[in-house]
Amino acid sequence: PIVPVILSGGSGTRLWPMSRAEKPKQLLSLTAEETMLQLTARRAAGEQFGPPIVVANAHHADMVEEQLAAADSTARALVLEPIGRNTAPAIALAAIAAGGGAEPLLVMPSDHVITDVDAFHAAIQAALPLVRDGWLVTFGITPDVPETGYGWIKVGEAIGDGVHRVERFVEKPPREKAEEMLAHGGHTWNGGIFLFRADIYLGALASYAPEMLAAAQQAMEKGRRDGARIWPDADSFAASPSDSIDYAVMEKAPRVAVVPVTMGWSDVGSWDALHAISHADAGGNVVRGDAVVIESSNCLVRAEGGKRVALVGVEDLIVVVSGDDVLVLPRGRSQEVKKIIEAMQKSG
Ligand code: GDD
Ligand code: MG
Repeated sequence: PIVPVILSGGSGTRLWPMSRAEKPKQLLSLTAEETMLQLTARRAAGEQFGPPIVVANAHHADMVEEQLAAADSTARALVLEPIGRNTAPAIALAAIAAGGGAEPLLVMPSDHVITDVDAFHAAIQAALPLVRDGWLVTFGITPDVPETGYGWIKVGEAIGDGVHRVERFVEKPPREKAEEMLAHGGHTWNGGIFLFRADIYLGALASYAPEMLAAAQQAMEKGRRDGARIWPDADSFAASPSDSIDYAVMEKAPRVAVVPVTMGWSDVGSWDALHAISHADAGGNVVRGDAVVIESSNCLVRAEGGKRVALVGVEDLIVVVSGDDVLVLPRGRSQEVKKIIEAMQKSG
C-alpha cells in the first residue's frame, strides 16, 4: 500500500491570531468542523493506503494523536521533531521510519484544502507506474493568479498518461516572472504534495544532501521509541542542514515528473484565501462564531472563545477575535499579517 506521510510542522503565522505556535494552522478547524490535519488524514484513507506516518513538532504530540483518533486514523509512526529543519529532513525521518524500502510515500502538507478528492486519487493512480519505476513525482495545480508565494513548474514532455517531465522548478518567483508564466501558459503551481519510493528519496539525499541524510539516520538510530511515538535524537537532528524538499531534492534530481491536476486545491495561506474558498452568505460574508452582522458585505468574521463580534455598515473587512487578540484589516491585505508578527516580536 501507499504510505501517507503527513507533514505537520509548520507554524502558519499568516493566520494570526487564530494560528499561533501553541496551536498552528493545521490543528485548527478553518474550512470545516474538522481540523486541517483531520481532513488531510481522511483524504488518504481507504483501500490503497496504509496508516499514515505523521511528522510533527514534539510539543504537539498529544493534540496530533487526539485529532487523528477523532478522525478514525491511527498513525503507524508519529515522528516528533525536537526542532524544525524544514521539509527535506522531516521527510527523511519519515522515509527511514517507513523502513526505507520500495514502498511509495505520499507526502502531504497537513494544512491544505482539496475539495475534489476523487481527482486527487486519480492523479495518484496516474503517477504510480512512474513512481514504481523510480521517478519522484509532484502534483501540479493550474494557476489562476500570479502567486509569488508558491513554487512554479514548467511542464515538459509527456512521459506517461497524464504525467509529464518537469522541465524546470521556479520556487517563489518575483511578481514579474509569475505574471509572465501565467500569461505564457505551460506552467503549474507546485502543490507541495509528492509521491515517490522511500528508497529513491533516501538515495537522492545521499547524492544531493549527504549531511542531511547522515543527520536523519543518526537521529533515528539514537532516538527513542514508545509505541508509535518516535523521538529522534535532538543533537543529531540539530546537525542537519535546514532545507526544503524543493531546493534539496526536487530541483536537483534527474527523474522528476509532474501530474497536472484540477482538484480544488488551496493552501489556505491567508485570511483572504480562506474567504475566497469558503461558502459566503447572500451578502458575501463568511461568518463563524458568535457574530452580529448588519448591512455589511464581503466580510470575513471569526469570533472564538466566547467573544462576540458585531459589524454595522462596513464592507470588505476581515475581523478575527481569538483569545485576547483582535485583528482588523481590509480584505486584500491579509499577507501583511506577517508584518504584525514582526512588529510584535520587536516589541517583545
Ligand atoms: N514536520 C515538519 N517539519 N513539517 C514542516 C516543516 C518541518 O520542519 N516545515 C514545514 N513543514 C510543513 C508545513 O506544515 C506545511 O504543511 C508543509 O510542510 C510545507 O511547508 P511550508 O513552509 O508551508 O512551505 P511553503 O508554503 O513555503 O512552500 C511549499 O509549499 C507550496 C504549496 O503550498 C513548496 O513546496 C512550494 O513549492 C509550494 O508551492
Ligand atoms: Mg505553505
